[in-house]
Amino acid sequence: MALRLSRLARSMFPRVVRRDEVVSTNDEAWLECSRGAPNGTVVISNSQTGGRGRMGRRWVSPPGTLCMSILREIVEPLEKAGITGLLAGLAVCRSVRQLCGVAAYLKWPNDVLLDGRKLSGVLVEARNGRQVIGIGVNVNTLISELGPELEGTATTLLAATGRTWPIEKTASAILNELAELLGDFIRTLSLPVDAYMEHFPFVSTRAAVYYANRVVEGTILGVDESGGLILKTGSEQTLITSGEVVHVRCQ
Ligand code: BTN
Repeated sequence: MALRLSRLARSMFPRVVRRDEVVSTNDEAWLECSRGAPNGTVVISNSQTGGRGRMGRRWVSPPGTLCMSILREIVEPLEKAGITGLLAGLAVCRSVRQLCGVAAYLKWPNDVLLDGRKLSGVLVEARNGRQVIGIGVNVNTLISELGPELEGTATTLLAATGRTWPIEKTASAILNELAELLGDFIRTLSLPVDAYMEHFPFVSTRAAVYYANRVVEGTILGVDESGGLILKTGSEQTLITSGEVVHVRCQ
């Protein structure tokens, strides 16, 4: 089945490259870039042999995983370019809720969780005025196929709903949502805070945030329009711009 993209998504993502297996769709997108591929080129694969995650981790991608990378020109001020990663997480969250009826939610900055387990992750890489937004979603894999180390922490749409989901439909839904979000972002240059917060259930919960070789513990107040996490530590507020959150307690 082919992708079913909205008119906006077709204009924003004019070229879609399909693969069955690659090392990493982010690598493929950079390869496309070096060959002069147009802005908005999308690479989609059903599996990866060397999928990359954030913080140098690997992303396990057996067949049945949606692996998708979008090559785009950075037209916004460079310091705002990371917001697109949060938009990608939001697009996944909205899409799987709408398509599969599951209550997926965001863990800052761009992980998508279901029942406390990770369903999807986003890796944004930048080079020479371009970025690749890499999105991985565990769609039709069994949790056991992700390997023993992820068994307690990851989930898949198959595991959560008891049925398989067409990869093309899932990819189309995400690209259609992302086209809207990126279109608005280019105009506003900010994260749609209200939209993000609709899917972010961690306000008022305690968290430890690992960033810049430090750990800060505090209470999450929300996110701001730059995409930063607002943390209350004692009487102060800290804006965390990147890092890893460990939720200490969820209310
Ligand atoms: C994370 O949560 O650590 C980010 C995971 C990102 C995985 C995706 S899958 C498509 C793209 N290709 C990669 O090698 N990584 C990203």
